[in-house]
Amino acid sequence: MIAARAVHHLGIAVRSLDAHRDHYERVLGARFEGVEEVPEQGVRVAFYAVGPADAPVRLELLEPTRADSAVARFLDARGEGLHHVAFTVDDVEARLAALKAGGVRLIDEAPRPGSHDARIAFLHPKATGGVLTELYEPTRGPGADGG
Ligand code: CO
Repeated sequence: MIAARAVHHLGIAVRSLDAHRDHYERVLGARFEGVEEVPEQGVRVAFYAVGPADAPVRLELLEPTRADSAVARFLDARGEGLHHVAFTVDDVEARLAALKAGGVRLIDEAPRPGSHDARIAFLHPKATGGVLTELYEPTRGPGADGG
């Protein structure tokens, strides 16, 4: 029902984007793709790409900009680390409707704005084997070509 076309990115919660840049660029050797603020989610995100340029795996580092954002609460409860897995989908609204009809527990009943103007929605980790799952419908930027 998710009909995932690809893994779009892995979301990693951090307290500071700057503090981790050396690790991702120099130690891991990932390609830095830029930083963007997503006010609706109370985060600044940095994207890194690993692997072939035409089909990379992306890492999305999330730094909270508000103490009441979901990522800030995650950091307070769990500390830094893997936060979610995002799957590329074609039509996030249709996916949400199908999942809801199938009894899958959702966090977002309607799409909201994500990075790069993507339309995103989260499923509840209790419905996905403990992994916070993001549906990501790209409109431009990384993954808009299907990656
Ligand atoms: Co994400």
